[in-house]
Amino acid sequence: MTVRKLNRGVAIAGAGMSNFGAFPGKTSRDLFVEAFQHMLASVDKGMDPEDIEALYVGNFSSDVFEGQGHTAAIMADWAGLTPRPATRVEDACASSGVALREGILGIASGLYDAVLVGGIEKMTNLPTEDVTDTLAIAGDALYEIPVGFTFPGFYAAMATAYMHRYGASVETFMKVTIKNHANGSLNPSAQFGSSIPQIMQSKIKRAESKGYPLPTWADEIDFLKDDRANPVIAWPMRLFDCSPISDGAAAILLVAEEVASAYTDDPIHIIGTGQASDRAMHDREDLTTLSAARLASQQAYAMSGVTASDIRIAEVHDCFTIAEVIATEDLGFFPAGGGWKAAEEGRTALNGDKPINTSGGLKSKGHPVGASGAGQVVEIWKQMRGLAGERQVDGDVNLAMTHNVGAAGQTCVVHIFERK
Ligand code: COA
Repeated sequence: MTVRKLNRGVAIAGAGMSNFGAFPGKTSRDLFVEAFQHMLASVDKGMDPEDIEALYVGNFSSDVFEGQGHTAAIMADWAGLTPRPATRVEDACASSGVALREGILGIASGLYDAVLVGGIEKMTNLPTEDVTDTLAIAGDALYEIPVGFTFPGFYAAMATAYMHRYGASVETFMKVTIKNHANGSLNPSAQFGSSIPQIMQSKIKRAESKGYPLPTWADEIDFLKDDRANPVIAWPMRLFDCSPISDGAAAILLVAEEVASAYTDDPIHIIGTGQASDRAMHDREDLTTLSAARLASQQAYAMSGVTASDIRIAEVHDCFTIAEVIATEDLGFFPAGGGWKAAEEGRTALNGDKPINTSGGLKSKGHPVGASGAGQVVEIWKQMRGLAGERQVDGDVNLAMTHNVGAAGQTCVVHIFERK
């Protein structure tokens, strides 16, 4: 592989997000402005927004979700950034991960010194069935949608292929759910900020208050196996294997390394970026891996000169629990077929040797699709700078990674971050 380098270094000088969740009455503009303000507040030495020279906004489908196209210019206007160039980036659920890469390229080319990268999505205006149809158009509308595929269906197909080949069970996926809800319960910005035991308790209390028979779940797995508490969406993916329908926004300030000291003495350097595409899912030979993720991570590793074992933590695209297991293999953290064992052994937990999705991941933090990639970077920024509160991992986080996937793996973008 040809090893590509950036022409000049790029760093993060600020990062912020709105809460993720369901916010009736708020538009994606409101959420973007919230994220932008949090980002500005995070810049150690402060920043005059006048310094921002361009804006890249990841957004999948404000057109359908809110009846609003041409969203980047609208965000520039609401953030007070006109007349800067404002570009919308649409790569399904990888939109803001790819927006980040475009911002990096804008700085590395020498065109800009400071760029705002963000992501937005406001999904909860529509009923679930309409959201499902809207998301499905990120698949192949010619060959996949007509035969009934939806996103839970795509990932269910990957899960059954993975279970068949490697011997994982539904309990493996439940353990990923339990871990991500535990992490999310420590994240005040998360949509589902409750652990599975807390959710069980609240359901027992609700049954009590209504005078219904009290559930008698032996433990979390027993709860997650209960068809009423955790119905099958597309077998083997149940409700708690799915990321939710979410509203949210995130914003990142990228600066050229040579000007970073004007904003902070503790920048987070972006030392690797990789992106790849793949054929639609129905046209692949292997459903147990995403080749775009493997390629994107190989590019990012080659650019940065680090290896999978050097990465301390990663935020990976767990739109469904199976996606997290596969990601940990595609990124080289574990061998093919080893991701599920690592998940079962607790190696990906907050106190494991390779903490994955310390934020709670898309599963628990929420998945406002166009904002999710930028939201991953906010978590990495917090963890690397020691700002993650109760979910802060032990020791220094000097190298970290994000992995953001579009649709069923037709796009993947990977970034590697370093705190020097
Ligand atoms: N995980 C856990 N609980 C969830 C949940 C999720 N993903 N989504 C909803 N819930 C909970 C709600 O909080 C609510 O709980 P309550 O009864 O205790 O108040 C209950 O489930 C019903 O919520 P509702 O909003 O009616 O659920 P729904 O059936 O309309 O939607 C899904 C559930 C799984 C179908 C929906 O979240 C979904 O489509 N997720 C996948 C999104 C997706 O494909 N994203 C792109 C990925 S590439």
